[in-house]
Amino acid sequence: MDIKFYEQEKVFKLDTNNTSYLIGIVDDENYIGHIYYGKKIDDYDLKYLLRIKEYPFVPSTHNREKVAFLDSLPTEFSTHGIGDYRDDAIAIETLGGHTAMQLGYVSHNIYGGKPVLEGLPSTFGTEEECITLEVLCKDKILNLNVTLIYTAFKDVDVITRSVRVTNEGSEAIYLTKIISACLDMDNNDYDLITLNGAWARERHIQRRPVGFGIQGASSMRGESGHQNHPFLALLTKNADQDKGEVYGFNFIYSGNFVATVEMAQYENIRTVIGINPYDFKWKLEAGTSFQAPEAVLVYSDEGIGGMTRNFHDLYRKHLLRGEYKNKRRPILINNWEATYFDFNTDKLLGIAKEAASLGIEMLVMDDGWFGTRNDDNCALGDWVVNEDKLPGGLKYLVDEVNRLGMKFGIWFEPEMVSLNSDLYRAHPDWAMAVPGRTASLSRNQYVLDLTRKDVIEYIYESVSAILRSANIEYVKWDMNRALSDIGSVGLPADRQGEIYHRYVLGVYELQDRLTKEFPHLLLENCSGGGARFDPGMLYYSPQIWCSDDTDAIERLEIQEGTAMIYPLSTMGAHVSDCPNHAVGRVTPFKTRGYVALAGTFGYELDVTKIPAEDRAMIPEQVKMYHKYNDLIRTGDYYRLASSAQNHRLDCWQIVSKDKTESLITCIQVLHNVNCKSRKLRVKGLEPTKRYTVEGTDGTFSGSTLMYSGILLENPWGDFKGRLIYIREC
Ligand code: DGJ
Repeated sequence: MDIKFYEQEKVFKLDTNNTSYLIGIVDDENYIGHIYYGKKIDDYDLKYLLRIKEYPFVPSTHNREKVAFLDSLPTEFSTHGIGDYRDDAIAIETLGGHTAMQLGYVSHNIYGGKPVLEGLPSTFGTEEECITLEVLCKDKILNLNVTLIYTAFKDVDVITRSVRVTNEGSEAIYLTKIISACLDMDNNDYDLITLNGAWARERHIQRRPVGFGIQGASSMRGESGHQNHPFLALLTKNADQDKGEVYGFNFIYSGNFVATVEMAQYENIRTVIGINPYDFKWKLEAGTSFQAPEAVLVYSDEGIGGMTRNFHDLYRKHLLRGEYKNKRRPILINNWEATYFDFNTDKLLGIAKEAASLGIEMLVMDDGWFGTRNDDNCALGDWVVNEDKLPGGLKYLVDEVNRLGMKFGIWFEPEMVSLNSDLYRAHPDWAMAVPGRTASLSRNQYVLDLTRKDVIEYIYESVSAILRSANIEYVKWDMNRALSDIGSVGLPADRQGEIYHRYVLGVYELQDRLTKEFPHLLLENCSGGGARFDPGMLYYSPQIWCSDDTDAIERLEIQEGTAMIYPLSTMGAHVSDCPNHAVGRVTPFKTRGYVALAGTFGYELDVTKIPAEDRAMIPEQVKMYHKYNDLIRTGDYYRLASSAQNHRLDCWQIVSKDKTESLITCIQVLHNVNCKSRKLRVKGLEPTKRYTVEGTDGTFSGSTLMYSGILLENPWGDFKGRLIYIREC
């Protein structure tokens, strides 16, 4: 990795091991042009790529055609209102009501390491691990400083970007749009990948050609959402898992976002990723700054798989934190699908006893333990243990569970309040609402106004008091509705446009405090399943509940999309009972275990009630988890087959970093009628090493396994699973 400034040419060159990124300052007005991003190159004097000579007029000499110049210049950070009609990266409004702005380079700073983004999650690295460039740009008329921040990493082909805006003027200014990364390129007949879905079918991969106009993904729900994901990838038409060029963009943020690509008139394309300008208006008082969240850019010329492995390595090493970052997670059993709200101490202890005897390591008590909560119509916000359900209190239950040799975990939904709750009766103004208007309910609940300090304090105190009251080692932090009716009585009229972002900052503040006060706590985020599975939340919790859809077959597509960006160690995945609660499907218990093995692994069922033959398989599954989890958590991920594409076979592989072992999981979704076995080409091994394939005789070279393949039988029946373990001999 390296970052250099070539003074004479006015060019910045950022290098990672295999990629280069070039920025050039042009014209007397110091526009910040984007020269190149892609496979590593040796030279830096590439300003010809900005095509300055092709413009009829350059602004400083011929202002006559400044608009034509700005509307086609590839730029690092497009500004609103002066002639670049493509999507802008920053927009403001002055007290006089004007919106135009222009940025010019002023100075820069290059240093080892990377800055902490105050109040925000972000990647991190030491001086040896990364290097940062800050480019200070200014709008001289507004006296507005915009600092573009870039970090290049040593061990991954990643460049991160973020932006800080400082009002150096004497009066307030409104920031109405601030994107974290803007990237202009020529269109190379790219396809676009986004991750889309709904509740119970999150992050399905969608691939389509880039066309004229703006396309991509966004959220206006106050969370990253089930429906869209703060990610997009541009890839060449020939790109698949193993080859072709791929540009991946991910946003380390958990609220409203845009991730779009626009093809403009000259078939040039602009990608922007950042906070959604929808209902965003931030008052920047004189002398204050606004820090935009971080965007992650990955370039790979080794296809989608190359992009994936870069994201996984970056997040495992430079985003996840805390005690469980590199640790095997306890195998948990969660009572949600087992009991829903209908439980008490005896029932939970019955489940725990049986679970402990089978090797399960932690009991998680889900929704329904507090206030009068016996269904989802009430009591959110009343974080007081319901002693009718839990006689003897929480401590008694936790101690009993601990006595069984198990850890104990608990569920909260701290950001919400039920209409029917003591909290709402006492503080109706704590719920987000527009004065005079009845706010829309969702799951019969309102969203608490996390822009308020008193609300934050109440939430923190309620959650932490419970955690202090017993030996609780895990928290599932849930959020079961999107935001609506945006209004806060705590903010003046000219700051109502800050609510969406302030809300997210409130969530981050709460989780930051919690993980600091309880450093040994394992935090798992959740949002009605996977509506807030994003890198922002991963900074606070090393795992996130992937989806409320626990059906092994539906999970294949959800986990394929999720694993395209996020390490398997972060994907909350459990074995549940059949018929599955979301889709009614019946699948073999064994297959359910193989699918959950690709994530954190746990159970979501009443172990005292499931069929005896399923229960009997649990000790084997526990052994399987302990045998393979280190490999799964730390290895390189390869996708061999996608049932979303071929409708038959789903297949993924993990290879240890030293290439001495590998695990392949194959799920035959549908039986292939009247077909022979399949030839499966393994990936990622060392061609010259010799390996054994568990369950077969003989040894094979890595090259044989990779190029000529192994045979995968075609068992009779649907939903059949198989593991293939390969080891160097
Ligand atoms: C949604 C979660 O995704 C479920 O696992 C469960 O915790 C329920 N909420 C409880 O209300």
